[in-house]
Amino acid sequence: MRRTTRGTPERGRGRTPAGTALRGRLRRLTAGAAVSLMVACSLNGTPAAASADAPPAYEDPALSVDDRVEDLLSRMSLDDKIGQMTQVDRGALEARPGDLAAYRIGSVLSGGGSAPTPNTPQAWAEMYDSFQRAALSTPLGIPMIYGVDAVHGHNNVRGATIFPHNIGLGAARDPGLVERIGRATAEEVSGTGIDWTFAPCLCVARDDRWGRTYESFGETPELPGAMTSLIDGLQGDSLGAPGSVLATAKHYIGDGGTTGGDDQGNTELSEAELRAVHLPPFREAVERGVGSVMVSYSSWNGAKLHGHRYLITDVLKGELGFTGFVVSDWAGVDQLDGREGFTASEVRDAVNAGIDMVMVPHDYRGFIELLRGEVRAGRVPMERVDDANRRILAKKFELGLFENPYTDRSYTSTIGSAAHRELAREAVRKSQVLLKNSGGLLPLAESAKVFVAGKNADDIGNQSGGWTITWQGSSGDITPGTTVVEGMRAAASDPSKVAYDRHGNGIDGSYDVAVAVVGEKPYAEMEGDRPGSMGLDQEDLATLSRLRASGVPVVVVLVSGRPLDIAGQLGGWDALLASWLPGTEGAGVADVLYGDHAPTGRLPVTWMRSASQQPVNDGDGKDALFPYGYGLTYGDAGPEEPEEPEEPEEPDDPGQAPCTADYRVVNQWSGGFQAEVTVRNNGSAPVDGWQVRWTAQDGFTLGSVWNATLTRSGDTVIATGADWNARLAPDGSATFGFTATGSPAVPETVCAGP
Ligand code: BGC
Ligand code: BGC
Repeated sequence: MRRTTRGTPERGRGRTPAGTALRGRLRRLTAGAAVSLMVACSLNGTPAAASADAPPAYEDPALSVDDRVEDLLSRMSLDDKIGQMTQVDRGALEARPGDLAAYRIGSVLSGGGSAPTPNTPQAWAEMYDSFQRAALSTPLGIPMIYGVDAVHGHNNVRGATIFPHNIGLGAARDPGLVERIGRATAEEVSGTGIDWTFAPCLCVARDDRWGRTYESFGETPELPGAMTSLIDGLQGDSLGAPGSVLATAKHYIGDGGTTGGDDQGNTELSEAELRAVHLPPFREAVERGVGSVMVSYSSWNGAKLHGHRYLITDVLKGELGFTGFVVSDWAGVDQLDGREGFTASEVRDAVNAGIDMVMVPHDYRGFIELLRGEVRAGRVPMERVDDANRRILAKKFELGLFENPYTDRSYTSTIGSAAHRELAREAVRKSQVLLKNSGGLLPLAESAKVFVAGKNADDIGNQSGGWTITWQGSSGDITPGTTVVEGMRAAASDPSKVAYDRHGNGIDGSYDVAVAVVGEKPYAEMEGDRPGSMGLDQEDLATLSRLRASGVPVVVVLVSGRPLDIAGQLGGWDALLASWLPGTEGAGVADVLYGDHAPTGRLPVTWMRSASQQPVNDGDGKDALFPYGYGLTYGDAGPEEPEEPEEPEEPDDPGQAPCTADYRVVNQWSGGFQAEVTVRNNGSAPVDGWQVRWTAQDGFTLGSVWNATLTRSGDTVIATGADWNARLAPDGSATFGFTATGSPAVPETVCAGP
C-alpha cells in the first residue's frame, strides 16, 4: 500500500502540507494532550489498524503530524520503538548491511570524517539512498534520519564550501549573514540526501585553553544567542520545504564552562551562574524552533549531563518548552560510568533523564538489548519510550521524509557552487579583526611589493581547521579552495608583486612589506586543549624573526581558533589581523589586507595578555591585551590602547518617547530571578536606538544580560539595545533579558531618536 513516491529517488523533498502551521501547533502540544488524543481514538472504536485495505492513516499527508504520529505509534512493537531511539555510525552499518532493517534502526550518522569512498557528493547521495531503501523495506516503512556534523559548511564532503568556524562568525556580528550561511549549508547538505546537522554549537567558551573555543560564537551569552539565526537558515521556513535540514543546539549545557577549559570536563558553577551564562542561547534556540538538542559530554558540579534529568527533562523540556528530541553525544551514554561498554544502568539513567535518541555509535546490538530489558523490567517506563518516539517521529513527518525519503538531487550542484563560495568570502572578510595598524601600514597598495611567509599562508587545511574533511582536520591540499596567498596574488595589481616562501627565506630590503600568515594547525575536540603555553610555535617564531631581520615592516595575519599568547612579540609587529579559521575562501582575507573592504570585525572573546590569565572574560576586571568587542578599521587614527567605553547618552525626554517596555519575570530561584523585557516601538517612525532604565532597589545586583548592554551608575541601571536589535521599525520590538538578585523596580523606556 505504499505510494509510488517511495520508490522514486529522483523526487525532491516536497513541502508537507501546512508545514509551518504544524510546527507551531506541535510546539504547543504537551505530552498530556497527546496521550488524551490517543485515548480518544480508541474510545471511538476505530483504531486505524483495523481497516486492512485502506492505506494506514500515518501515510496520509493530509492528516496532521500529531494524528500521523499517534497512528504510527499504535502499530509499532517495542522493538520498532527501540530502533527509533538508536543512532548508528555509517561505518558500523556498512559492515553488517542487513542490520539496519533487522534492528529497525531509526537513525544513521557520519561522525567526523566518516565519508563514503570516493568522497564525492554523488557517492554521499547514493550512500544515503541505499540506507533509506533499507529502512523503507521494513514492515512499517519508517524512514531513517541521517545526521552529520555540518558545522562550518558541509565539511565532511570534499568540494563543499567551507565557511569560517563560528568564532569568526561571532567576530562578524551579523546574524543575517549567519542565517544565509545556514541556508547555504542546508542546501549543500540536502544535495547529499542528509536531513540533519549537528549544528550550531551554542557553547559559550569561557576559557580559551579549551580546544573547541573556535566552535563558539563568543564568550558572552549574547553572541551565541544572536547567532542562533543559523537555525532559521538551516531549518528554513518549514522543515518540509525543499532544502531545509534539521538543526541541533549543542552541547547542552555548560560545555564551554569547564574548569581549566578541559574538554568534556566539569563545569563548576552555581545554578544562577549556569543559567545566566550558558542557558540563554538554548532558550533562544528553542524559541526559534530548533528540532534537536545534543547533550554535552561535560558534567555540572560533578554530575554528567548525560544522566541529568533535572537539566534535560525539567529545565529543557519543561521550563523552556522544548518539543523536539534530545540526542546524546557520541558514546556519551556509554561514558556515564567512566568504563567502556554499555551497562543497563547507563542506558536506564540516560533514557530516564530524558535522552530520546542515543548516538550509540557502534555497539547497537548491546544497546538495544539492554534497553529492551530495562523496559520489560519496568525500569524504563513505556511512557518514556513513547514520548521519545513521538518526538522523533514528529520531526520525520515534519521533514516530509515519509513523502520524499530520497536525496533531492536538484541541490547536489549547489555543493561548492560559486554563489556559496562568494557568500563564504563575504563571511571571511566580515570576520577579520584588525588589532594593530601602526602608521596605517594597512591596507596594502595593489602595487606594493609584498613578501608573504608562514605555514598558514598557502595551506587550505590549516586555514580551515578541525572538522574539515576529517575529524581533527589536517594540513595540506585537502579540498578545493583559495589560500590566503592565492587571494593576495589575485588582489595585487600583478601576481608577481607577491613573493612567497613558507619560512621567509629570500626576503630582503627591497620589499615594501612582509606578511606573515602564522598561528595554529588543525585540531578538534580532545586533541585541541592547550593547558600549558598558548604561544606561537617554533616554526612561526623563526619565520617571524627572519622577516623582521630584513628591516621590512611586518604584518601578522593570525590564523587560529582562539587568541594566542602574543604579547611578548606584538611590539615587533607593525600590524596584526586576527583571521580566525576562515575556511576555503582565503580571498576574503585579501579583500581586507588590500582595502577592498575595510575591517569591521570585533573580538568575540577577550584577548589575554598572558596565558596565565586564563580564564579571561568580559567584565572580569582582568587587564586584557585587547578587550572583548575591540577591533580597528582603516582611517582609525586612534590609539592602540582601546578607548574607555562611552557613557550612554542622556536620553531624550521620556515623555516624548514612543516606546514601551513589557517586563516579565520568567524564572525564579532562591536568591535570584531571570527577567525578560520586550521593548516595542509604538510610534509611526523607526527609532534608531532604545534604552530601558530602572532604579535598583536594595539587594539588586545584576548577574548577566543578553541582547543589550547594561551600565549602572549609582542606583540607575540602563540597558541599551545591541547592534543587531537597537533599530526598531514602527511596531517592531526587541527582547533582552537579564538575571539578578533582589527585585528591580518597573522599568521606564526611552527611545533615542536618530
Ligand atoms: C562531538 C559532537 C559531534 C559528534 C558526532 C562528538 O564527539 O562532541 O560535537 O556532533 O561527535 O560527530
Ligand atoms: C568520530 C567523531 C567523534 C569522535 C569522538 C571519532 O572517531 O569520527 O565524530 O566525535 O570519534 O570520540
